Amino acid sequence: MPSRSHASHASCTSDVLVIGGGIIGLVTAWRAAQRGLGTAVVDPAPGGGAARVAAGMLAPVTELHTGEQTLLALNLESARRYPDFAAELTELTGHGLGYRRSGTLAVALDADDRAQLRELHLLQRQSGLDTEWLSGRECRRLEPMLAPGVRGGLRVDGDHQIDPRRLSTALLAACERAGVVFHRVWAERLRVTGDRATGVVTADGGELGADRVVLAAGSRSGRLAGVPGAVVPPVRPVKGQVVRLTVPPRYAPFLSRTVRAVVRGGQVYLVPRENGELVIGATSEDLGWDTTVTAGGVYELLRDAHELVPGITELPLTETRAGLRPGTPDNAPLLGPTALPGLLLATGHHRNGVLLTPVTGDALAHALVTGELPPEARPFAASRFSADGSAAGRITEPGGERNAEPDAGRNARPGAGLGAGLSAGRNV
Ligand code: GLY
Repeated sequence: MPSRSHASHASCTSDVLVIGGGIIGLVTAWRAAQRGLGTAVVDPAPGGGAARVAAGMLAPVTELHTGEQTLLALNLESARRYPDFAAELTELTGHGLGYRRSGTLAVALDADDRAQLRELHLLQRQSGLDTEWLSGRECRRLEPMLAPGVRGGLRVDGDHQIDPRRLSTALLAACERAGVVFHRVWAERLRVTGDRATGVVTADGGELGADRVVLAAGSRSGRLAGVPGAVVPPVRPVKGQVVRLTVPPRYAPFLSRTVRAVVRGGQVYLVPRENGELVIGATSEDLGWDTTVTAGGVYELLRDAHELVPGITELPLTETRAGLRPGTPDNAPLLGPTALPGLLLATGHHRNGVLLTPVTGDALAHALVTGELPPEARPFAASRFSADGSAAGRITEPGGERNAEPDAGRNARPGAGLGAGLSAGRNV
């Protein structure tokens, strides 16, 4: 008899098979198993994916973008659920998530940055969000390591953080405790029988049968063979490079909250963890499947972070890494049932995968049990795009329909010069 967590998969069947063991796949599997569904995950290395790279900001307010008010509602709802979600996971597994309520300070270094931040402040207020404008002096009083040139900033105490690697570990443990079966192999092809998804064929030739299949493979979600063209999710990889430094105890507290800014048109953020890690991110590059850490990417991150917090040059550089966000045409996730019976999506979370983990798990469990998304997730129905990414039931924002590509002009273009691409492309 195979162990529950390392099953042989020659002829397994389950109520729910989740393709992808990143945080979105794991939370979906955990919540499904909690609802009494026999659940399996297929992934050669569960606990991997973009969460190994992500900084873990829970920042619906400072990451608000024009045209994304509908997404804001989902982001705020997930942020609201985070304290209970983290407490439940920790109580169940004994693993902390590094959840910190220390807040975020978004600052401006010159007049252009300040004008841009003022626009964000206006948008936040129009969206009913409570944020506080501070002078440069007030910013430096809060964070003495900030550069003397900081002109002003926005204090957002409600934008928190967690450690995504610890989240992965806790979700893996929660899944195992809930009886989720792990098949450590690639899913190669969706199995469709008649007009229904019925499982997958794995890379070693095995078959995994399931009553429902949830495609939660992050940036790879559009690449699974066998998915009928009309339901292939319009997900593309958006590369993010991140640098990790360590704050030695003699420098602590170096920063007491997340600090972020727009520098030369690109966004940079510094996320200080309780354990001394300082995460600096992130590039945003439309360069296909490339996950190379480049000298240019690291240079720009460190250069811009240094303009903000000059003291970072004293800190040990401990890690550089690149990952792929699952981008969608409207930057919002694809959730729930598709037009192919038996196939659901939990993908396309782009910049918000860590933030949206609690609400995604709840929404998918609800959809698996009832056949429908809960009200808060309905604007993000998987069926809102046709396969080519054009709108079917596209999200309509209060101010009109949103752009097809809100990032256009800010993302790096394939083939653009390296420096130009990265500068244009830091969009977080
Ligand atoms: N949400 C941060 C990022 O995607 O870089």
